Amino acid sequence: MAPTSDELLARSNRLGSEPHITNYAGGNTSAKGSEIDPVTGEPVELLWVKGSGGDLGTLTEQGLAVLRLDRMRALVDVYPGVEREDEMVAAFDFCLHGKGGAAPSIDTAMHGLVDAPHVDHLHPDAGIAIATAADGEQLTARVFGEKVVWVPWRRPGFQLGLDIAEIKAQNPQAIGCILGGHGITAWGDTSDECEANSRWIIDTAQAYIDEHGAAEPFGAVRPGFEAIGDRDARREKAAALAPSIRGIASHDKPMVGHFSDDPRVLDFLARDKAPALAELGTSCPDHFLRTKVKPMLLDLPADASVDDAIARLHELHEAYRADYTAYYTAHATPESPAIRGADPLIVLVPGVGMFSFGANKQTARVAGEFYLNAINVMRGAEALSTYTPISDAEKFRIEYWALEEAKLQRMPKPKSHATRVAFVTGAASGIGKAIATRLAAEGACVVIADLDLEKAQAAAAELGSTDVAIGVQANVTDAAQIDAALREAVLAFGGVDIVVNNAGLSLSKPLLETTEADWDLQHDVMAKGSFLVSKAAARILIDQGMGGDVIYISSKNSVFAGPNNIAYSATKADQAHQVRLLAVELGEHGVKVNGINPDGVVRGSGIFASGWGANRAATYGVDEEDLGAFYAQRTILKREVLPDHVANAVAVLTGPDLSHTTGLHIPVDAGVAAAFLR
Ligand SMILES: NC(=O)c1ccc[n+]([C@@H]2O[C@H](COP(=O)([O-])OP(=O)(O)OC[C@H]3O[C@@H](n4cnc5c(N)ncnc54)[C@H](O)[C@@H]3O)[C@@H](O)[C@H]2O)c1
Ligand SMILES: [Zn+2]
Repeated sequence: MAPTSDELLARSNRLGSEPHITNYAGGNTSAKGSEIDPVTGEPVELLWVKGSGGDLGTLTEQGLAVLRLDRMRALVDVYPGVEREDEMVAAFDFCLHGKGGAAPSIDTAMHGLVDAPHVDHLHPDAGIAIATAADGEQLTARVFGEKVVWVPWRRPGFQLGLDIAEIKAQNPQAIGCILGGHGITAWGDTSDECEANSRWIIDTAQAYIDEHGAAEPFGAVRPGFEAIGDRDARREKAAALAPSIRGIASHDKPMVGHFSDDPRVLDFLARDKAPALAELGTSCPDHFLRTKVKPMLLDLPADASVDDAIARLHELHEAYRADYTAYYTAHATPESPAIRGADPLIVLVPGVGMFSFGANKQTARVAGEFYLNAINVMRGAEALSTYTPISDAEKFRIEYWALEEAKLQRMPKPKSHATRVAFVTGAASGIGKAIATRLAAEGACVVIADLDLEKAQAAAAELGSTDVAIGVQANVTDAAQIDAALREAVLAFGGVDIVVNNAGLSLSKPLLETTEADWDLQHDVMAKGSFLVSKAAARILIDQGMGGDVIYISSKNSVFAGPNNIAYSATKADQAHQVRLLAVELGEHGVKVNGINPDGVVRGSGIFASGWGANRAATYGVDEEDLGAFYAQRTILKREVLPDHVANAVAVLTGPDLSHTTGLHIPVDAGVAAAFLR
């Protein structure tokens, strides 16, 4: 790799890893240098610049676009003017060097046209604070003197690149500029100088805000709107509200949620100015593309009851949708893309915190991070002046920009279980773990609930980051533990869509040896456990109003009278009938309830490893290690059943194809005639 791009990547990673310097995937950096052109053997001047969609903090060589500077500069001569500036993005493709690396972003012009070897464009909270202050231009002069120049708001693009290039040419003393409504750009002769200049602008802006800013930029505390002090009480209320709020955010498209009770959010929501500022919305294009132009704010105090809060949130949702539709109608032209949904992506609840939404957990989390950036921006702007974001008309030109729409159209088709949140009991082992793994692979967010927290978390970590799966502790015989586990699920992902009653254990004993304690344990974990989980989860599914699936991992033994199995088989029959009963009861809420009857899943099953296998082997008169093969030979298909086969059935039952099936049991037993259903 060329040393120029080495330096550039190191600088980008440093800048991008500090959230106050730039938001996730926000901003871009570049370096210019020379390499030998393999076609001519002559040196060629190149631009390395972060490509479209990348993140500075984690940028690698693959994330860089590489363009020929002579060709980029030549674009100035064919530029048709600001009305047609979008055409220049396609023209960048004709400037690429070799294969060109990542796709050039809209900001490429700014980097290529500004005559400096190194350029940073960033979205720092302190910089945007000045960029969104009503008197941003005067403030820029006051804070930075002649070292930093004000550039009035303009939608990113070729013209903005030309504007900044001109400013740099006219102001040789300048090290960068404040881009009105948006962010900062800095430059330098070396990579270190460029980074130092970026940091100087950000640090100087922050120091000025700290020194000269008003003490309480968001105004006085609104009595009654303070944060609920006790963390557990706050999160309990958040969890009680979460399913309804997710339902609100998912009216047009199902969404995954994220919750934050960051003290900076709670302080903002407690203050006098919160309603007016929330209404003004975010300003930096990166921010409102992820947060929508404005959040939805509950106008009730922290001690409002959950029922009152939900009722009011539904009213506010109607108003929000009308307002968003009016914004769309007011600014849309015949060429504009269709409205993309009118639900809020950020919902703010005073005393409790912020709920943010996206098409997956990462997007939902980042939307919340961006609104926190926006709160920091508003705090800085209000400390010095009056927060003045760009106009709705300009926001619309960004949100429904043809180039933005093209980006969305290029996104890969979502997986079958995208946006769905699955809560799987007993998922640290065996069949449950296979189900969790499969659902995660299909795009679901997964909550692994099991007896032992560490094992649950370890199983979750095997599936990916906490954006994919989390592990929680729950003994399904204990209603309080189930409630706590479901609370964690809804706080992690916004709600629950798929509930899998899988936890189980097995004692195989003849009637005369089955003790009362054996009977109770089997029934407590399976019949009662799944009843308790279904009951607690149904509350969430109903509040969400998004339908859902409840799956029972019953057993062949729920219908087959196998030997020495009174307690286990009886409780499995109980679970199987719960499927039918709940299918009838929950159908009106769009919730499907189905079951699976596995049999003879030996490999990977903890049940078999812990004595049941030896017992079954003895019952059938075979060696324990041959048990899987023995079960296979009993089957019609002569195939061994593995945990993955059960997981396949769960994926199908909860996937898009069996949308009209409820109250069904699917045998996954390689064919056992005695357990055929009729
Ligand atoms: N393995 C088979 O052949 C087979 C056949 C039919 C049905 N099943 C059913 O499949 C389910 C999973 O069985 P497996 O074979 O994967 O067993 P497994 O032992 O590998 O997994 C069961 C999991 O449930 C957990 N668990 C047990 N009691 C719990 C409780 N009170 N609360 C929460 N979690 C608890 C365990 O910790 C374990 O992680 C069970 O319901 C079982 O009855 C299994
Ligand atoms: Zn930007």
